[in-house]
Parts: sequence; structure tokens; C-alpha cells
Amino acid sequence: MKRIVVLLMALMLMGSSLAEGVLVTYFSHAGENYNVGVVEEGNTAKLAKVIAEQTGADLFEIVPVVDYPQSYDECLEVATAEQREGARPEYVSDVENWEQYDTVFIGYPIWWGEIPNIVYTFMESHDFAGKTVIPFNTHEGSGQSHSQRGIENTLPDATVLQGLAVRGATAQNDADTTTKAVSDWLSGLGM
Ligand SMILES: Cc1cc2nc3c(=O)[nH]c(=O)nc-3n(C[C@H](O)[C@H](O)[C@H](O)COP(=O)(O)O)c2cc1C
Repeated sequence: MKRIVVLLMALMLMGSSLAEGVLVTYFSHAGENYNVGVVEEGNTAKLAKVIAEQTGADLFEIVPVVDYPQSYDECLEVATAEQREGARPEYVSDVENWEQYDTVFIGYPIWWGEIPNIVYTFMESHDFAGKTVIPFNTHEGSGQSHSQRGIENTLPDATVLQGLAVRGATAQNDADTTTKAVSDWLSGLGM
């Protein structure tokens, strides 16, 4: 009996040390945005929360140390400069217990056809070896643009699954359509 208890405890300890958590990490810009006016919560943030709810994942928001301008036009200018310079803007705090996650969703808006530079800061700051990465994004016409390939190239040691692109205005204003898009996508991925 004692041996069985010891064996069970050893198995439980082994199980708890294996990474099996799911993390939804995202960057999103609140304030004025294309097609939605001035919003308190960004479009990608809304989409991230639907994904976290359906997968039971933890959430981590990539929050910039230096805020992006609230104004859409000014934000366009900052994004242009960041892309031109290959900037790696810093973000506040970080994911706790990174090792515990074996699946990491990464969410972002499309900025000038690309992944915002601050998301590259995040990707380049973590070890993704052996992890499964699942991109998602919002946009206003570009779909995923080049972002799926951008992630695959940046994280060669991860297995990158097919991402989901949702219109920003849909993520912001149409919860039913967003929820269905997410559940269809997740079941297509076998999740
Ligand atoms: C700097 C900037 C650049 C953008 N560039 C594009 C683009 O190239 N293609 C596109 O479809 N949408 C573009 N958009 C629209 C955003 O991708 C879209 O509004 C997105 O839903 C914003 O998500 P967020 O609220 O999470 O930041 C751009 C928006 C901003 C602020």
C-alpha cells in the first residue's frame, strides 16, 4: 500500500513538472482606430479574451513602456518610424513561469502589413524551443498579410500552427461572429 502511495505521488510530481499550460499573449492599441472610432479596449484585446475563454488559457498583455499615441494618424507615424528603424520597443513586466506553457497564442493588429515591432521584442526575448505557437490577428483588409511567415521565420524552433485573422471592427463590435470564428478555427486545429 505504502509503495502504491509513493508511486502515485511520484507520478503526480512528474505530471506537474511537465509543461502543458496554454498562454494567450497579445498586443493591442486602445484609443482611436480605423473603422471603430475611439475605443477603450483594442480589437485584438477583445479577440484575445474570446480565445482565452474558449481554451481556458492564461492571458498576458504586451504593454509598451512608452504608450503609443491615442490618435490614429499619430500612431501611423510612430509605426512607420519603428518599422523603418527596425525598433524593438520595450514592454512592461513579463510572463511568469514561461516554462509552464507548451502552447502560446500570439496576437497582434496588422500595422502597415506587418507585425508591430513590439511583438518582435516579445518573440525575441523568449525561448520558444519545443513550443506550439498559434498566431491570431485583427486587421481592416489585409487579413494575415505576411505575419504568419514573419512568426515562422522568427521562431524556427517552434511548431507554428495556422493563424486566425479577424476584422478589427468585427472583433470590436460583433461578439457572436467573433466567438464563432474562434470556435470554428480552434476545432479545425483539433483544440
Ligand atoms: C499603425 C497602424 C497601421 C495599420 N496598418 C494596417 C494594414 O496595413 N492593414 C490593415 O488591414 N489594417 C491596418 N491597420 C488597422 C488595424 O490592423 C486594425 O484596426 C486592428 O484591428 C487594430 O487592432 P487593435 O485595436 O488591437 O490595435 C493599421 C492600424 C494602425 C494603428
